[in-house]
Amino acid sequence: MAENKSIAFFDEQFRRQARDAAFALNPFEERALPFLHGEVLDFGCGLGNLAFAAARQGCRVTALDASPAAIEHIRARAAGEGVAVSAALADLRDYPIAGDYDAIVCIGLLMFFDCATAWSVLADLQAHVRPGGVAVVNVLAEGTTYMDMFDPAGYCLFEPVELERRFAGWTIEMSEQSEFSAPHNTRKRFVTLIARKPGKA
Ligand SMILES: C[S@@+](CC[C@H](N)C(=O)[O-])C[C@H]1O[C@@H](n2cnc3c(N)ncnc32)[C@H](O)[C@@H]1O
Repeated sequence: MAENKSIAFFDEQFRRQARDAAFALNPFEERALPFLHGEVLDFGCGLGNLAFAAARQGCRVTALDASPAAIEHIRARAAGEGVAVSAALADLRDYPIAGDYDAIVCIGLLMFFDCATAWSVLADLQAHVRPGGVAVVNVLAEGTTYMDMFDPAGYCLFEPVELERRFAGWTIEMSEQSEFSAPHNTRKRFVTLIARKPGKA
């Protein structure tokens, strides 16, 4: 896998969190959970906290990420708990999705790709949600000034309305902007969208 600052940043963070058993859902994962059912793809799953919570409510989850620490942790935990979470290591900048899903979750990933890659990955995610299924997408938006996580070679801060524009024709179940303070007096500005694909489940 090609060297990338964003992947290294999170891999180090996940090793720490796995050691410290810090497995709480973040606020975006909390928002997503009630919308998940059936077959779920967690695209950029991190430590898999949402994947395990979804499995506990009956979902069969495929969890993908480029962090070796995250994938090792998820595999060990899934085996230990005997739950329906399968995990694979993948660079998701170039990962054509193979099947269709009742829900595809992509929280906090696309901003680590250059914008052209982010748009084409998003289109692939949308194409693999089943009719009546949901997509959960969360990205960092313009106005974000915390840059430590970004690889200078490629990242994308989204226009706040861009996600809604890209989900034209879907039913918007939730659309939210949120802002958090970050280290060194900086800010993180997020956009989160939960959208349902037209058609019958
Ligand atoms: C902000 S974290 C979000 C993780 C998880 N979705 C959550 O909500 O906690 C960003 C995730 O993107 C992953 N990531 C960054 N670049 C990636 C890439 N090129 N391919 C796959 N995963 C990547 C990181 O390893 C990390 O798990």
